[in-house]
Amino acid sequence: MQAGFRTGVMVLMVASLLWGASISWAGDRGMQLLQQQCVSCHNLAGPAPATLSELWQRKGPDLFYAGNKYRQAWLESWLQQPKRIRPAGMFYIDHIKPGTKRDVIDPSTLSGHVKLKADDAKAVAAALVQLKGNTKLIKAETHRADISPGPLGEMMFDKIYGCMACHEIEPGYGGLSGPELYTAGKRLQPEFMLSYIRSPQAWDPKIWMPNKHVPDDNMQKLVNYIIALSEENFDE
Ligand code: HEC
Ligand code: HEC
Repeated sequence: MQAGFRTGVMVLMVASLLWGASISWAGDRGMQLLQQQCVSCHNLAGPAPATLSELWQRKGPDLFYAGNKYRQAWLESWLQQPKRIRPAGMFYIDHIKPGTKRDVIDPSTLSGHVKLKADDAKAVAAALVQLKGNTKLIKAETHRADISPGPLGEMMFDKIYGCMACHEIEPGYGGLSGPELYTAGKRLQPEFMLSYIRSPQAWDPKIWMPNKHVPDDNMQKLVNYIIALSEENFDE
């Protein structure tokens, strides 16, 4: 009898915990929208793809560390008016065809991003910044805004480290296999950029961006160059 009573109490306690959880879940509209409309293409829980085939099948960028990667204001405005970031999609091989001088993008294979209304974008951006994967990597970085990129910043980006082979620094100018970086200063937190350049594979073990073993000072110059680029507002 007493055992039965105790079991009954336990069941009630578990049920009320679950009930409480479902209420706070439903209350978080941004998280609910993410689960309903975004999880089919974006990984919200981690980890990053561990094999090449998982990487190639990925439908959208990983968002499980969104709170350590993006600027919230950028998320809110981009989600209302998304503009292409990866000129040749998630996996460029699927979206380029050989041209006479260089590879060209086949736009018929690319589709636009879902758009959100202002209040939904606000709720989703607030939920995304709660996702804090890889915090240890971010904590290891200190951004030095006082180190001016100077002319060396651009030269390192274009020539010395060959970053431009994969990244555009103006619309239509630069490589196609990585995200454009002319809006990255508005999109990304500086510590994320530092950490990603320091070790792309720490974030995404199978990504094709090489680790160039950039010394810290040069990394600060590269990041401050990228931040200066976005102040030119090429996207507007
Ligand atoms: C059909 C698949 C698909 C769905 C559904 C989808 N996305 Fe995306 N998302 C993508 C792709 C592909 C990109 C890369 C776009 C680019 O590079 O231009 C992307 C990019 C993003 C980015 C920018 C990330 C970055 O680092 O470049 C954010 C933020 C984002 N999506 C959020 C969302 C949210 C929030 C939802 C749900 C409301 C959503 N997405 C639904 C495929 C999808
Ligand atoms: C072989 C191609 C390649 C080279 C060379 C390369 N990258 Fe990348 N880079 C990538 C890819 C691929 C990604 C991540 C793709 C994704 O998230 O979809 C990336 C991501 C980044 C990001 C984060 C951007 C974002 O929106 O998530 C930064 C910042 C960056 N690279 C800077 C650099 C710098 C600086 C160099 C030179 C030292 C460099 N890259 C060299 C391919 C490259």
